[in-house]
Amino acid sequence: MYIRCLILCIAFVLATASKKRYDGNILVSVTPYEEKHFKVLSLLEDTDEINIWNDIRRNSSVHVMFNNATAPWLMGLFSSLSMKPSIMHNDVQALVDQEENEIQLRARSGAPRGIHDAFLNYDEVTAWLKELVGLYPQLCTLISIGKTYENRDIWLIKCTGNNGATNKKKACLDFGIHAREWISPATGVYIINELVSKYAAGGLSKELLDTWEFHIIPILNPDGYAHSHARERMWRKNRKLVSGTCYGVDLNRNFGYQWNTGGSSASACSDTFHGGSPMSENEAKALQNYMTGKSWNTYLTFHSYGQWWFTNWGYTTANPPQYDELKQKANIGANAIKAVHGRAYTVGSSAQILYVASGGSEDWTRGALNILYSYCIELPPTGGTGFIAPVSEILKTGLETFAGVAAYLKALP
Ligand code: ARG
Ligand code: ZN
Repeated sequence: MYIRCLILCIAFVLATASKKRYDGNILVSVTPYEEKHFKVLSLLEDTDEINIWNDIRRNSSVHVMFNNATAPWLMGLFSSLSMKPSIMHNDVQALVDQEENEIQLRARSGAPRGIHDAFLNYDEVTAWLKELVGLYPQLCTLISIGKTYENRDIWLIKCTGNNGATNKKKACLDFGIHAREWISPATGVYIINELVSKYAAGGLSKELLDTWEFHIIPILNPDGYAHSHARERMWRKNRKLVSGTCYGVDLNRNFGYQWNTGGSSASACSDTFHGGSPMSENEAKALQNYMTGKSWNTYLTFHSYGQWWFTNWGYTTANPPQYDELKQKANIGANAIKAVHGRAYTVGSSAQILYVASGGSEDWTRGALNILYSYCIELPPTGGTGFIAPVSEILKTGLETFAGVAAYLKALP
């Protein structure tokens, strides 16, 4: 017994000691409404003074994390620019600790980490996918669409029913392009499970699987995701070594349509570094290789957080072609989500609602692959604890997102 405790303690110390800590970091909400405010925020982010959690958007609060030591002058700066700074959380490390405690408690209790009661790590999702295709070989196949820098497989699960049917529509869904957005892969896993495990019961899952081919990538950024679990909870990018000490390309700035035309960074250390050239990254290339040459009816990419259902474009504030039609279909999804727990989504072009950001995957699927129904969905919450969602959110977000995606797909031509 004593030996067991000792081993657990050592494992715990090792696991926590090697993790990046956020001691003294506070989370502050500011409201930019002039061009100079956006410039100040991007400049501060590029110099690593602040870490922006949500997306910089017009006339709405931006959540920025920074250290206590710089708090007096940053709060002063934001106040003097009338950006209305207000503290959301005093201690980011406490949030991370709380999440870590839940994980440790569950591990010690010996309770299995089911898909609904824990944010599964990369290895656990991999094991779950393999088990699922073993259980439902007539519905699903598992494909590795490429390898990451750290040699992980980028898994894609293809699921469809009624194999005799021809003319099925094709949907490509990806999750977890940004590492720290844990609710995204969890929702991907939820959707896969819902479709497959309820197929035999008939109803909505059968209806969807019999008319659609689902191509689902639950974790598009495996290295980043694994890193956010093991080392650095707030990691966003992939994990390629890009300069002496800086790692990572923002995969959602790396895609090859209107790449580097605004809202991305050329500096390797930035959280929105767009990479050396369009599609330079293994993960973006893997998606490109897989999607090119097939005919898709829709592409959906899932992020967190903000509760938005974004249409194109990200790179320009100009209206995308058939903007009204795109908004109409998105509203069907958003209304179906709201009907479940009352959570409202805002629908519209990401550049118009947020800020210009080029090199996003949904701009590439629209611009280069010509998939009209390309969307970027930002899952809950809108604020609160941001990326650190309570475990209860897995079921809640999964349930409503599945309802929204189902209603949306059924409305497509
Ligand atoms: N939150 C995501 C990001 O910052 C998506 C923003 C919308 N998409 C876009 N291509 N601008 O990468
Ligand atoms: Zn994201």
